[in-house]
Amino acid sequence: MCGIVGYVGDQQALEVVLDGLRRLEYRGYDSAGVSVLGADGLQVERKAGKLANLEKVLSGRDLPGTLGIGHTRWATHGPPTDANAHPHVDCTGKVAVVHNGTIENFELLVAGLQDRGHERRSDTDTEVVAHLVEERYDGDLPATVRSICKDLEGSFVLVISHADEPGLIVAARRNLPLVIGLGDGENFVGSDVTAFIAHTREARAVEQDQVVEVRREGVTVTDLEGAVVEGESYHVDWDTDAAEKGGYEFFMDKEIAEQPEAVRATLGGRLTEGEGLLHLDELSMSVEDVRDIEQVVIIACGSSYHSGLVGKYAIERWCRLPVQVEMASEFRYRDPVVGRRTLVIAISQSGETADTLEALRHARSQRAWVLAVTNTVGSTVSRESDAVLYTRAGPEVAVASTKAVIAQLAAMYVVGLYLAQVRGTRDADEVRAHMQDLQEVPALIEELLTRMEPVRELARSLVDAERVLFLGRHVGFPMALEGALKLKELAYVSAEGFPAGEIKHGPIALIEPGTPVVIIAPRHALQAKLINNIQEVRARGARTIVIATDGDESVTPYADHVILIPDVKSLLAPLLTIVPMQVLSAELARARGLDVDQPRNLAKSVTVE
Ligand code: AGP
Repeated sequence: MCGIVGYVGDQQALEVVLDGLRRLEYRGYDSAGVSVLGADGLQVERKAGKLANLEKVLSGRDLPGTLGIGHTRWATHGPPTDANAHPHVDCTGKVAVVHNGTIENFELLVAGLQDRGHERRSDTDTEVVAHLVEERYDGDLPATVRSICKDLEGSFVLVISHADEPGLIVAARRNLPLVIGLGDGENFVGSDVTAFIAHTREARAVEQDQVVEVRREGVTVTDLEGAVVEGESYHVDWDTDAAEKGGYEFFMDKEIAEQPEAVRATLGGRLTEGEGLLHLDELSMSVEDVRDIEQVVIIACGSSYHSGLVGKYAIERWCRLPVQVEMASEFRYRDPVVGRRTLVIAISQSGETADTLEALRHARSQRAWVLAVTNTVGSTVSRESDAVLYTRAGPEVAVASTKAVIAQLAAMYVVGLYLAQVRGTRDADEVRAHMQDLQEVPALIEELLTRMEPVRELARSLVDAERVLFLGRHVGFPMALEGALKLKELAYVSAEGFPAGEIKHGPIALIEPGTPVVIIAPRHALQAKLINNIQEVRARGARTIVIATDGDESVTPYADHVILIPDVKSLLAPLLTIVPMQVLSAELARARGLDVDQPRNLAKSVTVE
């Protein structure tokens, strides 16, 4: 997610804001910018790339003023360019806005603004807010912002200044974190306390749909109706390292906790206003090209490959198209049969994985269409594809992927529904119904995350485990693979995932008394068969750890440990079953004293073959 700093006080704002942005660099970003309000009015500077690019441009300039806003952007709408970097301004150049999140109804808002003569100068959703402020401002910036927030849909943190009110910053939040820094004769806002703890450790959290008025002499918080909301400040006793992780011990803990928002943001804004039709982020294929597809081939590596396997079940179920899922590193060397009526889906968090890139290039050389599912706007994979659907998990710092993978799962369901919609194998009502089922999942993940302490205790009891097996059926099988991969890459445990039906064809020989076996067994038509598999391994002494659906007593007699997940449509279960396995592996790694964020031998993006 983006980094945000706002300052009002007696110091020159530029250096305070830049220092805050430097401390937020850990969040990952691909452009940066600042605005300062002073005697010379509003001045803005922003650059694509790293902060050093911005500082280079600023080295020749003075931006005097004691009110400033800064932003480090992780691109979601529009590539990382100077024009798309924040702050964004209105037509008059009096309003500066920085934003974190996704405004899901921005296209409708943009259309209205352009009809009313506003000139749009970026690809971003954020710029809409600057023009709305310009239009509605009547001398009361807080009231203007409250009015605009009521018309926005999606997740956002907004920080806004107006040249006509030089001592005031107004901020607002929905679904994403915003925190106030309370100083002596100066005050701050930030996306997390890292932005300002060099200046003050007195902070106050901003709650849902609250609007903050920040002045040098004090801070006022109101609800969207303008009623003042009293709140408690707290003392930040974290050091900088802990602050960057939001108080968590590892980035992985923070990123696991961010998964509900990663799914919510990835699903958000996919349905057009009115018709409620699904659309992709970028598409240079015609609808006819999509209708002419005869086969789908998914290419990816590692966890992204596992997301692709889940995507196979969804696409085949909803589109009746044959889907192959291929390890990208193997794809082009087997001289695959692909052509103009093949849709290749390249899944890559980084968008720079060499194996996936080379496979994509081979597919294109065979005239296949390529759809990219990636978390990185402007990445090579996205630029070399005919269509793109962005996951909106935000930057992922921990090497082992969690929130990016769960966002990929959500994206693959969207791809499946999009293809079904275009090809007519599901009507608009069915697509909307499935999207509604998906949009209910983030709240289920949030609830599930509150139940993880028993899973952590279980993990600690496995600290000496040398081998763990994972079993699943249907969409549980890709999750068995993902659970095994997480345990391998985080805790360095020899772990394998199998289709549960495969266990008796050899792997059952691995079972010894006490061998931990994780069986992914949420409510499913194949439940009876899975219970047989649990009995098979238990009869040979396995320690059975069963992931089951709330209220399902059928597995209890055969489970040494039961991890319950909320009930969800069986095809969507991976969005929930993945969570306890992430927590299990992260906790086991922690119990073993390992570096959960930077496991040995691994790189975040494997840019070599
Ligand atoms: C995920 O936990 C792993 N670190 C790794 O398997 C990763 O999924 C794989 O390298 C693919 O990366 P990509 O999604 O950036 O292409």
